[in-house]
Amino acid sequence: MNLPIKIAPSILAADFARLGDEIQAAEANGADLIHIDVMDGRFVPNISFGAMVVKVARKVSKLPLDVHLMIVEPEKHLKAFADAGADAITVHYEACPHLHRVLQEIKGFDLRAGVALNPHTPALLLEDMLSMLDIVLVMTVNPGAGGQAFIYEVVPKIQALRRMITQSKRQIDIIVDGGIEASTIGHAMRGGANVMVAGTAIFGAKGGVAAGMQLLKSAVERERQK
Ligand code: DX5
Ligand code: ZN
Repeated sequence: MNLPIKIAPSILAADFARLGDEIQAAEANGADLIHIDVMDGRFVPNISFGAMVVKVARKVSKLPLDVHLMIVEPEKHLKAFADAGADAITVHYEACPHLHRVLQEIKGFDLRAGVALNPHTPALLLEDMLSMLDIVLVMTVNPGAGGQAFIYEVVPKIQALRRMITQSKRQIDIIVDGGIEASTIGHAMRGGANVMVAGTAIFGAKGGVAAGMQLLKSAVERERQK
């Protein structure tokens, strides 16, 4: 399978004293999207930031803003994120007892709609919901923090999802999120993911954002040559 691969830097790992510059550096070095991780201290233990940061990103970048809500009751905040300039909003399956309604609301703001699955949540649960989805985000770490190790056990779920999506003939992105770096990106590609979120590997890279992006892109190329 030779899907075009997109790289989505997660600003969670950026230097927030220089957030605008960090986002622009990612864009200048070939990022395809900007991934924005919102945490509420309830769905996940940490609190990160809210819609104001989406507004900042919108101001400094033309790239699509991919907002990942790790929050309970996301329906209460969709408008704020839409108004701030989000292009896509992804909510967690585990946080939405009324998932269909939430997805309808996201689409009502004319945004791309996504569902994120925690490592233990089976792909099959989305089978009846594919017609509502533009994105499935597969967590390859437990949500809540950057810099964790890739969970290899999740790869078969990515494969199962890709099969389901191919059968449905729908255009749905599979985003992988967590622990993506040069040594793990190939596993995600072989699973059939086409959008790679990376925080630490880009903003925490020893040689800076340009070097981090280059390492990931070379790893994608190497995987393609196999
Ligand atoms: C984890 C977040 C991720 C995180 C990825 O809860 O959803 O987007 O920032 O960070 P790294 O790439 O450092 O694993
Ligand atoms: Zn994320």
